[in-house]
Amino acid sequence: MENLLLYENITQCLTLSGVARKKGRNINEEDLTIIENAAIVVDTSNNTIQWVGQSEALPSEFRNIVNIYSGEGEVWLPELVECHTHLIYAGHRHHDYALRCKGKSYQEVANEGGGILSTLAYTREAEPSELFEGALHELERFQKYGVGTIEIKSGYGLTLESELRILECIAALQQSTSVRLIATFMPAHATPPEFRDRTDEYVDEIARTWIPEVAKRKLATFFDVFVEKGYFSVPQAKKLCEKARECGMKIKLHSDQFNDIGGTTLAVDLGAVSCDHLDHVSDENIKRLAQSDTVAVLLPGASLFTGTPFPPARKLIDEGACVALSTDYNPGTCPSRNLPLMTTIACSQMKMTIPEAIAAITYNAAAALDSEDELGSLEVGKALRVCQLKADSYEVLPYCFGELE
Ligand code: NIG
Ligand code: FE
Repeated sequence: MENLLLYENITQCLTLSGVARKKGRNINEEDLTIIENAAIVVDTSNNTIQWVGQSEALPSEFRNIVNIYSGEGEVWLPELVECHTHLIYAGHRHHDYALRCKGKSYQEVANEGGGILSTLAYTREAEPSELFEGALHELERFQKYGVGTIEIKSGYGLTLESELRILECIAALQQSTSVRLIATFMPAHATPPEFRDRTDEYVDEIARTWIPEVAKRKLATFFDVFVEKGYFSVPQAKKLCEKARECGMKIKLHSDQFNDIGGTTLAVDLGAVSCDHLDHVSDENIKRLAQSDTVAVLLPGASLFTGTPFPPARKLIDEGACVALSTDYNPGTCPSRNLPLMTTIACSQMKMTIPEAIAAITYNAAAALDSEDELGSLEVGKALRVCQLKADSYEVLPYCFGELE
């Protein structure tokens, strides 16, 4: 009994067990599996849920628990999962945005000295301590918005040494934060100046030396490529992903952000865990994605901020795809850490329902990290990792429109 802890009278608890049963597809409000006046019994020795249900239905074996807390006036849901960020960088990109506000496109700004390569210059020069302190501060800001697990990509170093420094920074951060971190190696984010006009050679170098080195040091779970006009082609991405997979990494792809050059087709063919952005995904690929296990990660903050079309969330969901939402936090296309705000954009601009959006930042985002067996729902046997809101209904989450803290 000393090991057990009882939370009772939680005003509203969303367990999402229905979402988990349906593997994040075709979600209705009833799939959130809402329990009013809920109770949860936790084994504190391993933080796992022993029982969850209505307070009045607490089994007699748990009635003698002495450690009792009240959740009155609170809404509990699984901790939010942020499944796509580029969080480790130095410098800023205010000026990129100022230029876009004058009518320049993302690519025009990049061609004029802004874009990914300008962040590269700042990041390469930064001391490891500067990267570490900056990232730690960002993690605290994500945490204020209910995020408990976060994926972080490398990709602003683009030399083996600087990419290793970024991945090592992620490993070091894990020792200083309670947020769970998942690292993604993304050397194919842009072609660095050393390989200008020699992208094939850059790709060869990554495949031959960099991927085996990162794998050997066990610094990344996932591997990601920016498949886009002017960045990396389908054959280049395929070569890199096959090598990364051979070395034990799982695959994610940035596809169809500004142009459909075949990135989503490749993601489905490779059986990628997720493909992300999808602003310009074709109807044919929407169907293929829906029939695959690849999670469709939508990043409405990036579309909002770059002034480009929103991804077709409704079509993807109606075809039966597993759709997740994320900030895409990065200095160029989405400098917001506000994951709940992404649900507001998704609901108001992409016509997602609130239950679909809640699933998209919890269970479905966990699925985009291949972690849905551990995260994303409050069920017996899973760890108790919760987002607690001072509210009487989960509907406040998108409603509060960027105010949630
Ligand atoms: O996901 N698309 C590529 N990468 C980022 C943008 C990075 C940048 O502009 O610095 C994204 O939007
Ligand atoms: Fe991204």
